[in-house]
Amino acid sequence: MTDIRTRKADHITLALQSTHQSSQGAGFDRIRFEPNPMPQMSLQDVEFNSYFLERHVAAPFMIGAMTGGCDNGEIINQHLAEAAQSCNIPMSLGSQRAALESGLPQNVRRWAPSAIVLGNLGATQLQQHGFGLAERAVESVAANALVIHLNPLQELIQPDGDRDWNNVLEAIQRCAEKLDVPVIVKEVGAGIGPNSVKKLMDAGIKWIEIAGRGGTNWASIELDRNGSEREQEIAGPFLDWGMNTVEILPVVHAACPNLNFIGSGGVRNGLDIALCIRLGAKMTALAQPFLAPALISTEAVIEKISIFKEQLRWTMFLTGSQKLSDLRKASLQKSVN
Ligand SMILES: Cc1cc2nc3c(=O)[nH]c(=O)nc-3n(C[C@H](O)[C@H](O)[C@H](O)COP(=O)(O)O)c2cc1C
Repeated sequence: MTDIRTRKADHITLALQSTHQSSQGAGFDRIRFEPNPMPQMSLQDVEFNSYFLERHVAAPFMIGAMTGGCDNGEIINQHLAEAAQSCNIPMSLGSQRAALESGLPQNVRRWAPSAIVLGNLGATQLQQHGFGLAERAVESVAANALVIHLNPLQELIQPDGDRDWNNVLEAIQRCAEKLDVPVIVKEVGAGIGPNSVKKLMDAGIKWIEIAGRGGTNWASIELDRNGSEREQEIAGPFLDWGMNTVEILPVVHAACPNLNFIGSGGVRNGLDIALCIRLGAKMTALAQPFLAPALISTEAVIEKISIFKEQLRWTMFLTGSQKLSDLRKASLQKSVN
């Protein structure tokens, strides 16, 4: 196995461990809907069909980026992609770097011929390899959009991680200007705040995935893989680096109301999905919650999707929200703690 593929396999094993979930939480427990005990509708009246990238999707959540598909990543992606296809839920691929570098086939379209599939590359790979890599990532899977991930802390903790982040914004801007598909920029668990969001907007980006703090903790995972005593000491203060998903979403939405936000990072159920929508997200993404089912079967992923949909339906019913436009206006009640 190449270094990148070994690293990916480690990531999958470690991401399943609860010790590598952020100890802080994403903040969903600190904000509550005001219950509506007179919903004045039937549960079956709730409707959350949505549009994403100008296509109809069954619900406002998607499978977050995890693997580009190599070794056991291949079976994970098969289960995720078949479920995405069957449920009409979008799916984001994990980094395609290893597949593109090794020339391995990317089979996602065999399993998800018509689902929305998002390609994925790291911003530093674009800065190093140029726009051609972005074109190959999109073409190789007929991606509906390209996701570019920002992960500077993760790269610092990886011993061979990228330290040179010069010209990353220019590389992103070039993709936004020249690619035939939309570009989505995301973090991996530290969030993207209002200053960076504005720079990305000026660079032509229309979609941002927050990937805030509160879910999978990449600093913790990378330290578990490599940390010498010295590295543990240096990285220690950064284990909780970042901005909670729940704190940052309303701030960036208020700063840039015309941008499209994907709420992610620690989203764990349909109630969290509903809260993200209420806080300004057009779409939401869950990564780690799909990992364990994806290791089992396509049916297990479909069941997970169905549970999230039911939880979202319950939340909408219990807030008297028949449509997503009603949910966006539902009353919130800050909890006392
Ligand atoms: C096993 C695993 C692998 C991941 N690999 C990638 C990746 O290749 N590219 C990427 O943009 N994000 C990657 N992520 C980050 C997720 O897409 C997401 O932003 C982050 O885990 C926070 O969401 P969560 O709390 O729902 O897991 C990965 C996450 C997991 C759990």
